[in-house]
Formats: sequence, structure tokens, C-alpha cells
Amino acid sequence: MTEQQGRISFLNLARVTEKYGAEIDLAVSRVVKSGRYLLGEENERFEAEFARYIGTRHAIGCASGLDALMLIFRAYMEMGVMKPGDEVIVPANTFIATILALTENGLKPVLAEPGMESLQIDDAQIEDLITERTRAICIVHLYGRLAYTERIGEICRINGLKLIEDNAQAHGCMTGDGCKTGSLGDAAAHSFYPGKNMGALGDGGVVTTDDEELARTVRSLANYGSTEKYMFRYCGRNSRLDEIQAAILNVKLKHLDEDNAHRKEIGRYYINHIDNASVLLPQTLPPESNVFHLFPVLCTRRDELQEYLAGNGVETLIHYPLPPHKQECYREWNGISLPVTERIAAEELSLPIGPVISMEEAAEVVRLINMF
Ligand SMILES: Cc1ncc(COP(=O)(O)O)c(C=O)c1O
Repeated sequence: MTEQQGRISFLNLARVTEKYGAEIDLAVSRVVKSGRYLLGEENERFEAEFARYIGTRHAIGCASGLDALMLIFRAYMEMGVMKPGDEVIVPANTFIATILALTENGLKPVLAEPGMESLQIDDAQIEDLITERTRAICIVHLYGRLAYTERIGEICRINGLKLIEDNAQAHGCMTGDGCKTGSLGDAAAHSFYPGKNMGALGDGGVVTTDDEELARTVRSLANYGSTEKYMFRYCGRNSRLDEIQAAILNVKLKHLDEDNAHRKEIGRYYINHIDNASVLLPQTLPPESNVFHLFPVLCTRRDELQEYLAGNGVETLIHYPLPPHKQECYREWNGISLPVTERIAAEELSLPIGPVISMEEAAEVVRLINMF
């Protein structure tokens, strides 16, 4: 074990930053000296590079992943594509932000169960949820795993639905034919929350799309609704990616594939070596379609397993202990029963994974789990 005092952190962010520390210091000091702190060259460069990396025509920086999602749906409202009360099909086992972006815009989330193996929205159940008010399917590449399927693409095409991707957790993830998540639908939201595969040193987000009108509307909404200086077409918001974060992300983007390669190595090691009948490793994907943002295992004695690992110096987290439909903020849905989602919430445990965890640390995690 190499972690200080023999403990294995879930994700040691100081070590992640240190990995590219010299380059980050240079980038930050360049911005500090430039005197330009918002909407400058770093943003321009980042938007161009990120769009090229993802494979879309446009990338628009904004303040967070939640804002990226909110701005996409708000833009569709302004464009007349969606209106209050319209429905969006979304996986029930997502992080709350995906759902907040819908309800904030007066849209109705229609919660779809995930598959127990993929942990992603179950495409076999989607068609039954479509009504005349359905306008979009929002897939979430949860845990860094591809959620897109040919069938979902087909359902959207046949029913004239928008396909939105929540790519907060899956930067660099690809389909079998090499298309990146974030380029598979009509628009995608990305988060640069520090713990993400490509994390900033603060908040940040971006919207990617090929749709010129959507890109223009999102950019305007993120800048108070302005179309030209001091002229406001929409009642917008202030949602900017600041120059320091953009400069840091310009560094991080260069190393994303290398960081993901390390995550994959750890992920594969866990898959090949964890051997305990009470610990399940739900996996259905080929290696290119998983960038291992998280490594979820399922265990009916989850809390006991977490305590045992903690007692042996291994930090784990739960993603997520209470699904959106059971949260207090959505008390009107608390009575809904979604057994697969609820089972995942009760049994999921995320093992340490990231760009700085060593093979010895991974081996220690495996050793402990196999002895549980
Ligand atoms: C699936 C998912 N969607 C959206 C978000 C929101 O991103 P942010 O924290 O940047 O607002 C996150 C991360 O926090 C997430 O994991």
C-alpha cells in the first residue's frame, strides 16, 4: 500500500492534481497574469478542443453539469420543441441533477427502470412509457458506462424524440465503432466536478451538440439571454466556465485518455480477480465502452461490507443510497415502487478507482473482498 498511513482513499484528489501539477500551475498563472478571467482565449480553446475530442460541431462552456442539463432543456423550451408538462423518459437510478434539470423546466420526468446487469436504462421497457406528451429520452452514462443502444436510437428516430445524453460521468467513453458519448444524440451535458474522469479544480460544465440553433440558444441563455451586448432575447442566467477552470481543463483534456487507460486497467483487474459469491460485478460491456468513472459492486450485505473495508483501511462510497423518487424534494413520488432501482440503491458499493490508485492498492482491495 502506498497511500499515507496505509489507508486507501476512494479518490485522492490532491494526488490527482499533483500528477499534472506543474502544467496546471503554468496554466493558472497564465490566466492570472492575462487579466482576462471570463469568456476569453482559454474558453475558446477549450470549447474547440473539447468539441473535436467528442466529435460534435459545437461545445458551449457553462458553470456546471447541472447547468449544462438545465440549459439544454431550457433551450428546447425557448425553441418551441418542448413545453411545460411535456414528458422526458429518464433512468430512475440516476444522480438527482438529471431529474432536477427536468423539473426546473416544468418537464415531467418519466422514470424508467435500469437493467440489473447493465445498471443502465433498460431499453426493453422504454416503448411502454411513451405517450403523446413524450418529447425526449435522456440517457445517463452512469458509472462511466455506455448507456446508448441501437434500440434507443431507433426508438427516438421512429417516435420523433430528442435524445439527450447526461455524460457527466463518462468522458472518453465510446461505442464499439468509436463514437464518443456526448456525440450520440441531439445534445449532451458534461460535468467537470473535481471527482469526474476529467475534473476541474472547482465547478464547470459544457454542452455538446451538432445543432446550430440549439448551440446558439444555449450560449445566449448562459449569458443572461443576451444575443448582442446589452440586448436580451431571453430571461437567461449567468452560467459561465471561468478562464482558470478552462485553462485547467485544457491541461486535463490532454491527459484524459491516459487517465482513462489507468482506470480501465484497475477496472479489468477487479473484474478478473474479485472472487466472492456474495459480491456481484454487474458488467455487460466491452472495454472501450466503459471508462470506469466508478466501480460498482452489488452485495446484499452492503453496509457490512462497507464497514469491513473501512475497518481495514479502504474507503468506499455508495452511488446512490436513495433514488430520486424516494427523496424528500420529490415527496409526491415517494409512494412509487421501482424495485430494480431500489435494489441497486440498497446493494451498491463503489470501490476505489481513479487515475492515481496503484496496482498494489487494487490488489489489497481484492484481497480484502475475497476474504469477506
Ligand atoms: C449523472 C450526473 N449528472 C449530472 C451531474 C451534475 O454535475 P455537476 O455536479 O457538475 O453539476 C452529475 C455530477 O455531479 C452526475 O453524476
